[in-house]
Amino acid sequence: MERVYIFDTTLRDGEQSPGASMNVEEKLRMAQMLERLGVDIIEAGFPISSPGDFESVKLIADKVRGLQVAGLARASFEDIDRAWEALKGGADPRIHTFIATSPIHMKHKLKLTPDQVFEQAVESVKHAVKYTSNVEWSAEDAVRSDVDYLCRIIEAVIDAGAKTVNIPDTVGYAIPNQWGQTIAEIMNRVPNIDKAVVSVHCHNDLGLATANSIVALQAGARQVECTINGIGERAGNTSLEEVVMAMKVRPALLEMETKINTEYLYPASRLVSNITGLPVQPNKAIVGANAFAHEAGIHQDGVLKDKSTYEIMTPESVGIATNDLVLGKHSGRHAFIDKIKRLGYDLEKEQLEVAFSALKELADKKKTIYDEDIEAIIAERILRLPDRFRLVYLNVTSGTVTVPTATVQMEVDGVVRQEAEFGDGPVDAVFSVIKKLTGKKPRLESFNIAAITGGTDAQAEVSVRIEESGVMSNGQASDTDIIVASAKAFVRALNKLEHRKQKTFMAHM
Ligand code: KIV
Ligand code: ZN
Repeated sequence: MERVYIFDTTLRDGEQSPGASMNVEEKLRMAQMLERLGVDIIEAGFPISSPGDFESVKLIADKVRGLQVAGLARASFEDIDRAWEALKGGADPRIHTFIATSPIHMKHKLKLTPDQVFEQAVESVKHAVKYTSNVEWSAEDAVRSDVDYLCRIIEAVIDAGAKTVNIPDTVGYAIPNQWGQTIAEIMNRVPNIDKAVVSVHCHNDLGLATANSIVALQAGARQVECTINGIGERAGNTSLEEVVMAMKVRPALLEMETKINTEYLYPASRLVSNITGLPVQPNKAIVGANAFAHEAGIHQDGVLKDKSTYEIMTPESVGIATNDLVLGKHSGRHAFIDKIKRLGYDLEKEQLEVAFSALKELADKKKTIYDEDIEAIIAERILRLPDRFRLVYLNVTSGTVTVPTATVQMEVDGVVRQEAEFGDGPVDAVFSVIKKLTGKKPRLESFNIAAITGGTDAQAEVSVRIEESGVMSNGQASDTDIIVASAKAFVRALNKLEHRKQKTFMAHM
């Protein structure tokens, strides 16, 4: 079996998904989950892009020791110095520097000649290796670059000291066969290619990111850059869970393996969705709600006779518990702690107490507690930190003969205020009061509601997307009451919007 390195960029490229910004603490939680999942390298951020990114990369490099932590830098000494400043306390830091190599990018974006780009690439790698031998170099928009030029520049950056060379399909333009040939050509033509690990980084604009990553591996690449749930710039990146499970499910064909603990895939997917507010589409491979659901009679019949008739992997192998009826009113602390650990969370004593009493509260409202209920408790009560706006109290009247009215009490910058408003429906009334209390007038781009567990006592999960002055933000929340879940999701999106506005994101490379 050939070993494949998993480079997770959920915290960097993933965070570039519209509205998906994460705060420092959320990024640290995510990094700890990725460590448990067993990824080899995490790209924790782009240190020069904002003080928040710098802080996150530094915190993660300082605290998360069981993997390599990478920080992104353009091909400039200033970027590289800043990245190193953030990374230097890490156990195994990696500087990831990049420059565009396609004629389109060199001419229109960089306004540099190919020779100038060549020189900058080499100089930047030489500068980075003064800090660490663990340097990765990326040829942005490699997919639309001239292959001769690409081979020459790759040879030069390896000579300059790059230990990993990454070949990105930045715009999701590649078609599997052709992409496999490009990678094979690089493997065959670059004379010193054996001195570096070849990596691929594929975007999903044509829905081919996973396929392109797999053909690249077959052609000789040994590192895949990917994100949980495939989140990322535009249509996203290669989905980590897809590429990892392809290797696990088809070992005889691919003859490759990773060191991913696949039973953490689903908990990691839920955590990303909870933190970013980006829902997972139900038919998403591996981690979608329907990934193991069998609807057609013939399929159900087959699965009842033998699961392998229609299942190529077990739900347990990706961390989805099939006997998901777990806890109830009478469950003890031990069972609860056990469950939390199995779901992939590492909570401190005090946090466990908070979560346990929330479980008891919930068990008074609903009979059966599912894994998703527990995740929702952890996301709501522990992982989410107090922000500018906090919902304190909510009361709604609605029905067939009343005008929907909402009274809401909120803490805004530490001051508790209360207002009431009418609306077309109860959710509209609640959103109007929240807007009044916060002084915010975002446009509601989308509103989705889903029952995350079965039955009429299910927890509702609400996802909202809002937009203000061109800045987008997502919020997600769950509660047994759909109006409360909606209000929490809206407040969460508003808090994220505030956070996002403070971040001076650089235009995506
Ligand atoms: O898509 C891309 O080219 C990137 C690089 C910075 C690796 O994200
Ligand atoms: Zn990218």
